[in-house]
Amino acid sequence: MNVARTIDAFRELRSGLPEPVGFVPTMGFLHDGHLSLVRIARERCPSVVTSIYVNPSQFAPTEDLADYPRDLNRDLALLEEENVDLVFAPEEGVGLYPAGFDTWIELPTIASRLEGVSRPTHFRGVATIVTKLFHIVEPDVAVFGQKDAQQALVVHRLVRDLDFDIELVLGPIAREPGGLAMSSRNIYLSPNEREAATALYRSLQRVERLYTAGEHKAENLRHAIREVLAAEPLVQQEYVSVASPADLSELETIEGRALVSLSVRIGKTRLIDNTVLPPGEPLL
Ligand code: PAJ
Repeated sequence: MNVARTIDAFRELRSGLPEPVGFVPTMGFLHDGHLSLVRIARERCPSVVTSIYVNPSQFAPTEDLADYPRDLNRDLALLEEENVDLVFAPEEGVGLYPAGFDTWIELPTIASRLEGVSRPTHFRGVATIVTKLFHIVEPDVAVFGQKDAQQALVVHRLVRDLDFDIELVLGPIAREPGGLAMSSRNIYLSPNEREAATALYRSLQRVERLYTAGEHKAENLRHAIREVLAAEPLVQQEYVSVASPADLSELETIEGRALVSLSVRIGKTRLIDNTVLPPGEPLL
């Protein structure tokens, strides 16, 4: 496994990789969710590239950029075990954002909803770094997680709008035994908070059961989620959404597919989770 710390070093090593190349972008502090995406890339492609970069432009000044967990050596050992061919782990600092950087990718409609309400500049940062990474890595296949469903929709839109010749593949949400979706930020949770956080998945499972039993009214499903979350005093609710995967507009009645998503705060940690209805349907 090769590791490149600069764009030039990366391009040199990338040029020697057999095609097609599968790519899994990450911000590091890897868990089984990330590694499940690496395995999907491995199944499809003779060459697998992973990036590890805590992208400053997707964090608001009030967010946890400085505290975001980092452990490059551990991450590299995990990727080596997965037989990743090449890791792009640019040094943090000016490399990807040269002085005077002034080019941004914006998706005003889809990025303003759900996460965009409390994180208005987040997806501009994501879309811009993903565009840069796609230009640097030149992958044939890019694997993202359904865990960040809105991010997946943003990337799907930008791949189409900007004519990237990249096949986008989504991996399912990897969960802890209690149902909590794996996340690098879960290390912020105390044991009590971690227990309370299982309410997210429990609320989504309840919605799946209700939907399957014939409840297709979106407001009733939102209410069912809010009830489960409200039973956990440590959980502060943010949004609860039942939306169209096409543009994330809120639905009244579910006729086709729906993205059911939610965000909460538990202590100082913000958590998100989601499911697609009908259960088991793909998001994209
Ligand atoms: P990060 O949060 O590190 O996530 C990297 C990839 O792993 C994303 O596609 C995310 O959806 C996926 N992922 C995270 N938790 C998962 C889980 N429990 N199960 C399955 N997949 C999971 O998302 C980012 O980094 C950044 O925004 C990035 C795309 C790298 C741009 O900076």
